Amino acid sequence: MVEESILKELIKGARLARSKAYAPYSGYKVGAAVLSSDGEIYTGCNIENASYGLSNCAERTAIFKMVSEGKCEIKAMAIIGSGDTPAFPCGACRQVISEFATGDTEIIVLYSEDKYQVYTLKDLLPHTFKLD
Ligand code: THU
Repeated sequence: MVEESILKELIKGARLARSKAYAPYSGYKVGAAVLSSDGEIYTGCNIENASYGLSNCAERTAIFKMVSEGKCEIKAMAIIGSGDTPAFPCGACRQVISEFATGDTEIIVLYSEDKYQVYTLKDLLPHTFKLD
């Protein structure tokens, strides 16, 4: 289980990232924070587009920021949506998470501003596709 202080930082980072969400079409703002193996936190928000299919989820924004800084290992991540909807990562994001995480990587899913549940990646994506 990720340390309490780090968990708090991840939640704070996800909340701050959500405030930057560009979601004029759905109105549903999402924020994510990823802890990399060296202890850095990378955050991201959802970024929508008038051509809807080009929209990017918050999780992938955060992960791509991490990877583009040369870090390829997710230690933990937190995701917050809007309202009281649990912010479960979509299927595409689960697959992208699995590229940079292990089955035991913890994913903190917020249910409201301060309620959360901790899952592992293998809870959310059993039998993941990997080329190895
Ligand atoms: N969204 C995310 O950012 N992450 C997810 O895992 C699911 C959905 C975003 C995409 C879109 O901007 C909005 O939420 C509504 O689907």
